[in-house]
Amino acid sequence: MKKPIDMRIQPSEITPRELYDRRHFIQLAVGASLTALFPVPAFAGDAMDAAKTSVYTLPDEKTPFKDITHYNNFYEFSTDKEGPAELAHTLKTRPWTVTVEGEVHKPKIFDIEELLKLAAMEERIYRLRCVEAWSMVIPWIGYPLSELIKQVEPTGNAKFVEFTTLYDPMQMPGQRSSVLEWPYVEGLRIDEAMHPLTLLTFGLYGQVLPNQNGAPIRITVPWKYGFKSPKSIVKIRLTEQQPVSAWMKAGPEEYGFYSNVNPDIDHPRWSQAKERRVGDFFKRPTLPFNGYAEQVAHLYAGMDLKKHF
Ligand code: MTE
Repeated sequence: MKKPIDMRIQPSEITPRELYDRRHFIQLAVGASLTALFPVPAFAGDAMDAAKTSVYTLPDEKTPFKDITHYNNFYEFSTDKEGPAELAHTLKTRPWTVTVEGEVHKPKIFDIEELLKLAAMEERIYRLRCVEAWSMVIPWIGYPLSELIKQVEPTGNAKFVEFTTLYDPMQMPGQRSSVLEWPYVEGLRIDEAMHPLTLLTFGLYGQVLPNQNGAPIRITVPWKYGFKSPKSIVKIRLTEQQPVSAWMKAGPEEYGFYSNVNPDIDHPRWSQAKERRVGDFFKRPTLPFNGYAEQVAHLYAGMDLKKHF
């Protein structure tokens, strides 16, 4: 994100879907209900209206699979958008564990296979709005992060949640450069982490996450800029103090802890008022909280969002 924005999508060959690990896809599919779970209110006379207002689906057209998997930000592999798709095959996603610790009564190291089965999977179509002013619409597969956090029983001191990505420069060549301070760390306030929109994510487009999208497990927080959704996480730590993220360390004037999508607060080096949906020619207005204001604006009631950007 330190580099000038390059909006062009290079034509690069799609990895045939057959090449993805069939075994893991089958495991994912078995545990997954791949039908979108639209909470259609019983009183809704018109299912279309219900679907439009659902927090789990969108009227927007989905971004093609090829763009989602070939236009990535994953600095552990490359700072080029096309780099992660080429390079992320070196990431070994099995065996994989996620340590959940800190201000919890029942700290635990979860094996990825156990995490896949912890709660029912849902398909959720979310907007992803990158801080660089492009966006996508992605059909993720996962379940609410709250399902996992409940398992470890947070203490009364748990006010924040810190996420840490794998640190292994052998597997992640980008970690041999100092573009960010490694490992990649992100954080949420506990109520943000427990919000039903915050998704523990294992797949997209009905299949296991491609490595370049954060396999085998990532967080997705749709009302915040994309960098608040850390990939390939190995640790979740509940804390009393607000975590300091990798991006806050890299540029505290540019990347705040909250980083809620906000068209009214420009990034110091560019406007956030509009965005270009990947694949589109024209820009579109950016929506407050990325279009999820109805669901999340109350979390920030009374806060000065210019100060807490
Ligand atoms: N997580 C890690 N570990 N490393 C990264 O570089 N980039 C972030 C986020 N998560 C990043 C990360 C940014 S800036 C964005 S926009 C999204 O991942 C991109 O996710 P996608 O490539 O799946 O679209």
